[in-house]
Amino acid sequence: MAQFTDKIEPKDFPKMPKEYQDLLTRLLTIQADCEIGGPHIYVDHWTLRAPTVDDQWRVARIAAEEIDHCRKMLRLLGLIGSDRSDILTRPRSKREVEAFKEDMPTWADFAAFGMLIDKVGEYQLDEMISSSYQPIEDYLPQILREEKGHISYGQQQLEKLVRSGDEGRTQAQAAIDKWYVVGLDMFGQSNSARTERYIEWGLKRRTNEEARRQYIAEVDPQIEALGLVIPNKLQGRKYL
Ligand SMILES: [Fe+2]
Ligand SMILES: [Fe+2]
Repeated sequence: MAQFTDKIEPKDFPKMPKEYQDLLTRLLTIQADCEIGGPHIYVDHWTLRAPTVDDQWRVARIAAEEIDHCRKMLRLLGLIGSDRSDILTRPRSKREVEAFKEDMPTWADFAAFGMLIDKVGEYQLDEMISSSYQPIEDYLPQILREEKGHISYGQQQLEKLVRSGDEGRTQAQAAIDKWYVVGLDMFGQSNSARTERYIEWGLKRRTNEEARRQYIAEVDPQIEALGLVIPNKLQGRKYL
């Protein structure tokens, strides 16, 4: 597949073919929506209910970082003349990605969300490394560093729950069962024609299937290392 290797600055954007303009706008809009989608699920419920004051501080800090990631994606959209600040007030049911329509009733859910869904977020952002859209480069390193922090905090919290006894372990397993399948679905259809166009235009690096396979290879051993059971992948829908 021939790949586009130029670097596009905002001033070049209007001269690009419509397909490029549409794909870049779509990619950044979905990412902005995902970044703000997390805080919309957990801030009200968990900021002042997390188990300790340190955890409450960490939830607030994670939310602040996600809001900042959203702010950066909206800035990148602004540079190409798109104002999508409407996503800030979008109802949860209208989020771009199913994961952000879910509820998070237990602390184990918050932890599993960090371990598994922020991990998918890391994969999505990883696609943008060496993007043909130059301004992304300025923001990615810090965002990726912060995502890794969210993921490891989620893992630590699950580990604590597992160690706390049968009730904690049961909650941790239930949360892994729920969010693992949601996470696998986030990679999208295996035979997505759009993904090939993203790759050709230098806006993504991997197909949905490749990314999902690498994700499974990375998280399955982590779930086992927690002493938990890897959920049944066949419950996933989009890639069957
Ligand atoms: Fe984020
Ligand atoms: Fe995150």
